Amino acid sequence: MNKNGTIWHDTEGNTIQAHGGMILEHEGMYYWYGENKNGPTSTAPSGDIRVDFIGISCYSSADCMNWKYEGLALAASDEPGHDLYRDRVGERPKVLYNEKTGKFVMWFHLDSADYTDARAGIAVADHPAGPFRYVKGIRPNRSDCRDMTLFRDRDGSAYLIHSSDWNKTLRISRLTEDYLDVDGVCGKAFIEQEREAPAIFFQEGCYYMITSGCTCWDPNSALFGTSSTVLSGWKLIDNPCVGEHARQTFFGQSTYVFEKDGAFYLMLDHWKPEDLKNSGYSILPIEISDGHLTIPFREYTDFSK
Ligand code: DGJ
Repeated sequence: MNKNGTIWHDTEGNTIQAHGGMILEHEGMYYWYGENKNGPTSTAPSGDIRVDFIGISCYSSADCMNWKYEGLALAASDEPGHDLYRDRVGERPKVLYNEKTGKFVMWFHLDSADYTDARAGIAVADHPAGPFRYVKGIRPNRSDCRDMTLFRDRDGSAYLIHSSDWNKTLRISRLTEDYLDVDGVCGKAFIEQEREAPAIFFQEGCYYMITSGCTCWDPNSALFGTSSTVLSGWKLIDNPCVGEHARQTFFGQSTYVFEKDGAFYLMLDHWKPEDLKNSGYSILPIEISDGHLTIPFREYTDFSK
């Protein structure tokens, strides 16, 4: 069983390359999408630490414990100047299934090596493991987009939640019915609070959003906020992590919350900026009580219990 806070391995024994990722449930299978960082870590002229863009990996699992590599769901382009060329940044991919179109839609943080392009990339596929076809990169509602996530509400409407205004404020942009663009309806959360790495979910009448502070690859304190609507009304509440190293989010950073068998789990990246391909993962159960979230660290998460 993979140990939280360490490098994880797939069913072939290779390190799982799915950083900044998410887990999508579809027809009883779980699909883990994330950044493939299986290359050398280097420093861009801007000083930003990076791995040249390789693509977005996909892994599948029936139990969320044994992960089979399905290949690159979205691959880098060989064409210099292309949005997905290796000199670019593609981070934090999130995928939703659109019931109306029958397509899988991926959004991700698309950027230049110095993080000034700050766009959202969009790709689409017929099958969960891809191949995804790149559609375009946009500035949602004319705003910059860095760390981001997607959230699908119970009525099928979907939202892009993204760090914006140079990471000062999170913006929330509703997607069009086909999930391939934003529809102009938007809101803000945690204004001027400098939060990133958003992970959002809904439970019993309340929307919850877990975020990190903005300290590049270094761990900091997570905070959760709540609201009764997706687009507005967000209030920061507290650090959900408890126990040793809670103030450093157990040396991890949030990337997604998913539901399995009625329980919610927080996915964390444990970044290794000196060697990003060897960054680790945690998946930790979230305890929810009276609108409050509590996340203790545990070495192993056994989904069969
Ligand atoms: C923090 C973000 O959360 C990561 O996804 C990545 O963009 C780094 N910053 C880059 O420094």
